[in-house]
Amino acid sequence: MNRRFVAVIGGAVLALTVAACGGEGAGSGDEESAAPEDRVIGVSMPTQTSERWIADGDSVREQLEELGYQVDLQYAGDDIPTQSQQVDQMITQGADVLIIAAIDGTALSSQLQAAADADIPVIAYDRLIRDSENVDFYVSFDNYRVGVAQATALLVGLGLQTEDGSPGTATGPFNIELFAGSLDDNNAHFFFDGAMDTLQPFIDDGSLVVKSGQMDIEQVAILRWQQETAQRRMEDLLTSSYSDGSRVDGVLSPFDGLSRGILTALQNAGYGAAANPIPVVTGQDAEIASVKLINDGVQNSTIFKDTRLLAEQAVIAAEAFLEGEEPEANDTETYDNGVKVVPSYLLPVETVYRDDIQPILVDSGYYTAEEVAAGQTEG
Ligand code: BGC
Repeated sequence: MNRRFVAVIGGAVLALTVAACGGEGAGSGDEESAAPEDRVIGVSMPTQTSERWIADGDSVREQLEELGYQVDLQYAGDDIPTQSQQVDQMITQGADVLIIAAIDGTALSSQLQAAADADIPVIAYDRLIRDSENVDFYVSFDNYRVGVAQATALLVGLGLQTEDGSPGTATGPFNIELFAGSLDDNNAHFFFDGAMDTLQPFIDDGSLVVKSGQMDIEQVAILRWQQETAQRRMEDLLTSSYSDGSRVDGVLSPFDGLSRGILTALQNAGYGAAANPIPVVTGQDAEIASVKLINDGVQNSTIFKDTRLLAEQAVIAAEAFLEGEEPEANDTETYDNGVKVVPSYLLPVETVYRDDIQPILVDSGYYTAEEVAAGQTEG
């Protein structure tokens, strides 16, 4: 699906590399002048249960292989000991650079110490690795803005605000419920902070009501971002707070997988029929199953993060380290991991409503129109 685009990016990265090498000349030592074929990049991804991480892994691997590198790509099945052991193994097998999307952002300190002892640069991929000195670079999206965008989509869907940020025609009050991601994922906090900063004025003036009263991230977080857990929590909320005949008008959901669980709970409870419209449910990642739901008018929106571009930044950073250079950061303030501020390269995100599917997702080659209609990718 993404091959053409990947090839284009690969070519661009290659051109950059050739240009950089040409300018510098050799002479930076044996290690730095080794051929790409002699370099192994360890890529550690959290799980294959969400298609977002499959797309990330594929993009990183394809782009690195395009440049001639050997790639050791491992998925950890969302199991922390498995990820630790996979990273340990990459280190003992002589990886030259590590690219890691952590399951638990605080659980890899000893692996990162071993990497530092072996002079292996570590790039945190999308999720910041916390509590360690030995994170050399971070590539991600603007995670606070993701939360702002999710909350804005909720406001727009309810009619409290328009897409350009001006006041909408609706006044409420609307009943909403809040969900957050896994507490051990640094991003979950950024998403929730961005969303709450955006929603709070509407909660304060009474146009939004969190009927369950559950508004702290600890109360609304979903461990490991699990769809089933989100479905169960939504079912529990419907029972505990909406058995009096009141209805839920909107749900802040930070990830498409959670959104699908939430929507299932709502549909099972009778929402989605003509007299009982489906609440406004947000999302993230533009997973194909959710893009279909948006196209069908079931899910309100998602936040698109172009994993091809994130992979490209990880590859550019890995190459810089291999050349003995520091990758170029565009943010050196935001991502304090508890020990140091990690230099970061952050990409922008886009909100996708129904009308944006064609221009943003199809025209860019991310999905074909057939995939959107089917709700699954071709392979
Ligand atoms: C990523 C999100 C993703 C979530 C669940 C987060 O760390 O930034 O894009 O939805 O993990 O996989």
